[in-house]
Amino acid sequence: MAVTLTIDRQKVTVPVGTTVLDAARQVGVVIPTLCHFPGVSSPGSCRVCLVEIQGARTLQPACVTAVSEGMVVRTSTKSARDARRLSVELMLANHPWDCNACVRNGQCELQDLAQEMGITEVRFPYTREEIPVDRSTPALVRDMNKCILCRRCVAVCQEIQGVGTLAPRARGFETVIGTGSGEELAEAVCVQCGQCAAVCPVGAIYEKDSIEPVWAALDDPTKHVVVQTAPAIRAALGECFGCEPGTVVTGKMVAALRRVGFDRVFDTNFSADLTIIEEGTELLSRLKKALVDKDPGVALPMFTSCSPGWINYMEQFYPELIRNISTCKSPQQMFGALAKTYYAQREGLDPKNIVVVSVMPCTAKKFECLRDEMNDSGYQDVDYVLTTRELGQLIKEAGIDFLSLPDEEQDTPMGMSTGAADIFANTGGVMEAALRTVYEIVTGRELPTGNLHVVPIQGLDGLKEASLTFTGCVPEWSFLEGVTARVAVAHGLSNAHKVCQMVVDGKAQYHFIEVMCCPGGCIGGGGQPRPTTDEVRKARIRAVYREDEGRPMRKSHVNPAITQVYKEFLGEPNGHKAHELLHTHYQDRKA
Ligand code: FES
Repeated sequence: MAVTLTIDRQKVTVPVGTTVLDAARQVGVVIPTLCHFPGVSSPGSCRVCLVEIQGARTLQPACVTAVSEGMVVRTSTKSARDARRLSVELMLANHPWDCNACVRNGQCELQDLAQEMGITEVRFPYTREEIPVDRSTPALVRDMNKCILCRRCVAVCQEIQGVGTLAPRARGFETVIGTGSGEELAEAVCVQCGQCAAVCPVGAIYEKDSIEPVWAALDDPTKHVVVQTAPAIRAALGECFGCEPGTVVTGKMVAALRRVGFDRVFDTNFSADLTIIEEGTELLSRLKKALVDKDPGVALPMFTSCSPGWINYMEQFYPELIRNISTCKSPQQMFGALAKTYYAQREGLDPKNIVVVSVMPCTAKKFECLRDEMNDSGYQDVDYVLTTRELGQLIKEAGIDFLSLPDEEQDTPMGMSTGAADIFANTGGVMEAALRTVYEIVTGRELPTGNLHVVPIQGLDGLKEASLTFTGCVPEWSFLEGVTARVAVAHGLSNAHKVCQMVVDGKAQYHFIEVMCCPGGCIGGGGQPRPTTDEVRKARIRAVYREDEGRPMRKSHVNPAITQVYKEFLGEPNGHKAHELLHTHYQDRKA
């Protein structure tokens, strides 16, 4: 059913249930917003989107007002403009005026609104009492002095992630967004995914800065500084420099990292390919134990383990599933362990002088690299993690004209990778990459290049399923002949909750489950350029698949650099050395 209404003298027909805000956008009228964020419910609290609706006694918030037949809306009358301006002025009166030294300077939605509304002075005094800044976690900083109570962080933490760490506390003028009992974030149940920081419109929640220590390492002539970039970075970094979402900037990113001063520019895609070999071998070994040895102790389904926010969630909410999680470290941590052992040995470098920097789409990676388990090289395997946003900032600080850089390639051998590694960036990608390899190993037959995608697990549906029946298996894997492997893919922790609960209740008949903490997978990570909406996620995912499809090698097991690392250093997949460096264990951290 559709309704027709008039907005600023323009007729528009939209489906029933559309908000005035969305209807206005269809006729090119942009009503300002602040508390509204696509994909989560609007609290309708900021009053920045007030409009006049003929016949209504008061101005109405466009973001939560549904259209009706014959409605007449005027968005820029004096009363609407004055009311919106007053709302912004009141927020500014309650906000520190240190914009020049704020992490969001130049990228702040409140600042933008003040400028768009022509606000050059605030008529009300600043009376707010100072609130201590929470720097308790390695991933996130919460500065509630800057909070404008829009509640976007609350909505994303509750509705998308189902974690519910943040909530409004106290009432009226005393309201503050905080953890359950006001404890610091490090003491709260929080997975450090950074989705709150990704939607915060101001400088109230942001990633903990790692730019300064990275500069210090680059400036230290005794250090050999290597960098790895996660698969999702290349499809999003361009947005920091004004590119459209979905612009792939791999070559320029590599060139920029060299010019910034990194001694070697490597690639997390290399260790993503390695993850497929280790994780695929682990899955096949679990299947063999279950089907051939009839071992009742084998834990199936097996879950992926690349996403540190998911691991934090599992440890805090579903520790009973620890045995089901692959013991593989994430690609970031596999890379770090190899950089300070394999690479150090190859190059004749003292690992104590190697500094490993990661560029990740994810704030939880900052937490992951500091875990006690992540020192298997004898040193902290990964030293510093920069988010995509921080890398954008680092490149700007270096005075590099990013868009005019030439395209360059990563260094070898730890920069060599396949299209299977590219798709680790998005939901369904790790599973598809694993299936490409497992199928070819089990059947000994090559998949046709034009038929590599596993369509049922693509896209942004929260929980996706696929199945694959093995036929014509090679002798080593003949026990899988006729077996139908059932897989599932979940992204966003509220979907992870659903699949975990199915497994706990014995209602999931899967063999292998991919879980990514952030909606859309890593391309929607908490450290990616803002804003990340579903439209932006889709554009980044399309870019990732294009990157994969353009590669000469698209399956992890054909990467010659992976063959080489086993031959020269690791021995067998899942062998002793691989276990020592590339696998880990998890902790029960249920509160
Ligand atoms: Fe509509 Fe905040 S954007 S009330």
